[in-house]
Amino acid sequence: MKYIVLNHKMNMDYKTMKIYLEQLKKLDTKGNKLIVCPSDIYLTNFLEAQFIVGSQNASSNKDGAYTGEVSAAQLRSLGVKYTLVGHSERRKYFKESNQEINKKIRLLLLNKIKPILCVGESLNEKNSDSTKEVIFKQLKGAFDKLSKKNVDNLIIAYEPVWAIGSGNIPTKEEIETVISYIKDLIFQNFNVNIKILYGGSVNEKNIDIINQVQGLDGYLLGTVSLDIEKMRVLIDKL
Ligand code: PGA
Repeated sequence: MKYIVLNHKMNMDYKTMKIYLEQLKKLDTKGNKLIVCPSDIYLTNFLEAQFIVGSQNASSNKDGAYTGEVSAAQLRSLGVKYTLVGHSERRKYFKESNQEINKKIRLLLLNKIKPILCVGESLNEKNSDSTKEVIFKQLKGAFDKLSKKNVDNLIIAYEPVWAIGSGNIPTKEEIETVISYIKDLIFQNFNVNIKILYGGSVNEKNIDIINQVQGLDGYLLGTVSLDIEKMRVLIDKL
């Protein structure tokens, strides 16, 4: 069983989403665990259709006068089970810091929502051989004040920033090196066997390569998640 997390990002108008939803209902997931992360405005559509649903974000504040924000408690009250945190697009465009990411994680865990924490290096960082250093910093900031029990309820997604939406993926060996680094680090510090997903330009063609990576628990899909036919091919290859 692999986790297959669909990150729709800011895509699909209402009519397109309704058609997509009907197609998704017919998709055979072959025993894999599908988690759909649509735009917030469509969360209830996917929840009512009995999918396991995640949000793409949550506020770092508990409640109150924060126009446009959605809280962890609100998400929980709908039935949302997972939330993406620290996605590189949020770090880049919304200037999310590791400290804010940590606040989000703690609020989500308080509300029994499992955070899917995204970490990964930029191309410059990769080329200057600082991938591990960057990921260490992201993890250290995000895991501040977390207990072993907290970490047990968290999933990590390794998403190299340069791979997201680019069509480029790391080699099997490169992914293996990073995920075993993360797994070891978390085991040493929290005694937890953390679940790790890979994300960044996964598609129905390169899944053969990525699926050979030892120790991966699943995939975070962006672009390909919008195309049910391609997902069918992808899932068939797992
Ligand atoms: P991508 O996006 O599959 O389009 O690269 C992945 C992600 O950003 O989670």
